[in-house]
Amino acid sequence: MKRIGMLTSGGDCQALNAAMRGVVKSLMNSKEEVEIYGFLNGYKGLIYSNFKMLTGKDFSGILTVGGTILGSSRTPFKTIKDPDENGLNKVEAMKQNYYKLQLDCLVILGGNGTHKTANLLRQEGLNVITLPKTIDNDLYGTDMTFGFQSAVDIATSAIDCIHTTAASHGRIFIVEVMGHKVGYLTLNAGMAGGADIILIPEIPYDIDKIVKKVEERIKNGNKFTILAVAEGAISKEDAKLSKKEYQKKLQNSPYPSVSYEVAAKIQERTGQEVRVTVPGHMQRGGSPCPYDRVFASRLGSEAGKLILEGEYGFMVGYRNREIVKVPLEDVAGKLKMIDPNSTIVQEAKMLGISFGD
Ligand code: F6P
Repeated sequence: MKRIGMLTSGGDCQALNAAMRGVVKSLMNSKEEVEIYGFLNGYKGLIYSNFKMLTGKDFSGILTVGGTILGSSRTPFKTIKDPDENGLNKVEAMKQNYYKLQLDCLVILGGNGTHKTANLLRQEGLNVITLPKTIDNDLYGTDMTFGFQSAVDIATSAIDCIHTTAASHGRIFIVEVMGHKVGYLTLNAGMAGGADIILIPEIPYDIDKIVKKVEERIKNGNKFTILAVAEGAISKEDAKLSKKEYQKKLQNSPYPSVSYEVAAKIQERTGQEVRVTVPGHMQRGGSPCPYDRVFASRLGSEAGKLILEGEYGFMVGYRNREIVKVPLEDVAGKLKMIDPNSTIVQEAKMLGISFGD
């Protein structure tokens, strides 16, 4: 008999359900008897013992369904060791609930913050297996996270739609893409959508270079220009500020986000109309794309295998086209970012895409 606790934590994404279904199906198709405890709304469910027992039926028909049947929430790692408002020790509470239910392991689906807490629970002696989810694809130790390809599809569709209206009106358009502090989503959607300028956090931009590219396009007879701008894009000057100084600058900024600042500067310098579109949380929503359905199912299935073999303390990741197990201590607390000298950036530049650098 295996008793498995499962939770989804942090910002949701597509294919969370597909991944959980993969874990449960692979376990249920083994000879092992299995009990599944689904903790609700992320780590909160584990802390406050809010769970429901699930059967195979609960995982039926959810392969294509977005969101998460368990709900999710953000439980910041930086305050996880602080007592809650009633003085409860959250880490101890999670441990106690784990032992009370006599769990064999926890399957935790999440991104960066989630992995820090998962690793802490491992250090505290709990058996943990994690699965890499996030539309940002910024998780260290895996080439790919599920949710990413679905979000690329949505962000690309947004750029595609903007393309036609930009062409009709001869306007400059900025599409702001999610991704937190990294640019994978923007780079991929930008290239897929044929953006002329792509701004990502890993390559701080120079507004003069952006304006130059726009002016060149106008001179060459191009009626419109599309920019894919990562929500975390940063100018060369701002990149020199300390984290604290930059936060202060953002708080006092008249612009809702970096895209509006870039738009205002381009408009001021070129006299051209600039519009901003922010698809926002749409990028995390809806049904997972076929790639993510397959990928998340594979990861889930491999997680099931590790559980059956009693191998714990790993994230099931993907490297060099193989599903691999990565020790949690190698993943937690590290961010995967785009190397500005990587071949994909060089190839994009050869296609004529400007990164504003
Ligand atoms: O990490 C996923 C993500 O969608 C990021 O791309 C984005 O910066 C953030 O979450 C938004 O967080 P929230 O849903 O809490 O607003």
